[in-house]
Amino acid sequence: MQTLLFNIGSLVTISQKGEKYKTGMAISDVAEIKDGAILFSEKIEWIGTSSDAKKKLDDKSIIPDKIIDAEGKTVLPGFIDSHTHIVFAGNRSDEFGRRLRGATYQEIAESGGGIQATVRATRNATIEELFDNGLRLAKSAIKYGTTSLEIKSGYGLDLETELKMLRAIKKMKEVLPIKIRTTFLGAHDFPLEYKDNHDKYVEILCKEMLPIVAEEGLAEYCDAFVDKGYYSIQQAERIFRSAMDLGLKIRMHADELADVDAAGLAADIGAISADHLLFISDKNIDKLRDSGTVATLLPGTAYFIRMPYAQARKIIDRGAIVALATDCNPGSCFTENMQNILSLSVINMRMTAEEALNAATLNAAHSLGYSSEAGSIEVGKDADLILTDTTSYIDLFYHFGVNHVDSVWVRGELFV
Ligand code: NIG
Ligand code: FE
Repeated sequence: MQTLLFNIGSLVTISQKGEKYKTGMAISDVAEIKDGAILFSEKIEWIGTSSDAKKKLDDKSIIPDKIIDAEGKTVLPGFIDSHTHIVFAGNRSDEFGRRLRGATYQEIAESGGGIQATVRATRNATIEELFDNGLRLAKSAIKYGTTSLEIKSGYGLDLETELKMLRAIKKMKEVLPIKIRTTFLGAHDFPLEYKDNHDKYVEILCKEMLPIVAEEGLAEYCDAFVDKGYYSIQQAERIFRSAMDLGLKIRMHADELADVDAAGLAADIGAISADHLLFISDKNIDKLRDSGTVATLLPGTAYFIRMPYAQARKIIDRGAIVALATDCNPGSCFTENMQNILSLSVINMRMTAEEALNAATLNAAHSLGYSSEAGSIEVGKDADLILTDTTSYIDLFYHFGVNHVDSVWVRGELFV
């Protein structure tokens, strides 16, 4: 079915130049067309102004099946949420209550809560429960404008449960029209069974778990939590080398709790993305820029666990590729709403609205290998579009804390 959307007050295309990602000056531009129009079926077929569209309708060079008046509102590419943990079981609101009474995220983890609490619940859950929970959060994310997702395993920490999580994600891919990439995060924490022998678990990850994940084609990426109290640089490098030998690409939880030089490792091994980076050093910002590793910033996590925000200004100004994502998970950031993340990025990380929109669309798409099909509104890309209730894209940031998304098209089909 071919649809014409016209009278778009602000058509934020993000790019019209086929850019794969944006850095430097380019990230300050969102390639806006005023009074725009788009013709699309599964893919975007034509982009222009409403008056051009009217001419085409009049001379019958286009005969769309459906014509929609956007009433002067804003259209953007769907958001790309490139870092989530939305498949899990259980609920940690009790922990959150403890944190509100003064306990820190790390204290809770040290007392047996945190990731380990979700591991216990996830090991006890059926694949159907994991699928249902993940599907509910994914559908909710779409309502807030997300049209591509990355989802990680990592609440199993044993072969059986990690596979159960990855298979639940595979089932989600089968029923949802949005694009989904899967990341194996068996190195999210150390399982309690190996609390006194971490290296043994690293060996199991490399020799037993990763080969099965790769052979069954259950993940495109491998991730590890490289941080103080979690995986060391040496352990992570061993895991990543094994993963790369099996054809997986690398994304990383890097320097979230302390500067452990994890971002340096990400650059050295050619990781696609280094995420969090609350404590990244200046030296490693330059290394990420030079290696082309995406710096994925997750301001929802800094907000939720009351940590200092990543230095987005410095990372952008030094020329690294910056993406934004939710990190949606039951412990350190429980939101699937990318509009919240946009709001936090401009207010608390001092990004501009244009930088934030580029980071949440094209640059995040690049980090998932989706740049040629998503992340901007360009002819030939998938028609993953959102129509908001605002007449300007600045209003998305200005009027905060509400859902501005009216309609969502995924591959040209109306989803919301
Ligand atoms: O990205 N940093 C590690 N993992 C998650 C937290 C997971 C959890 O608390 O359940 C994160 O912040
Ligand atoms: Fe995370």
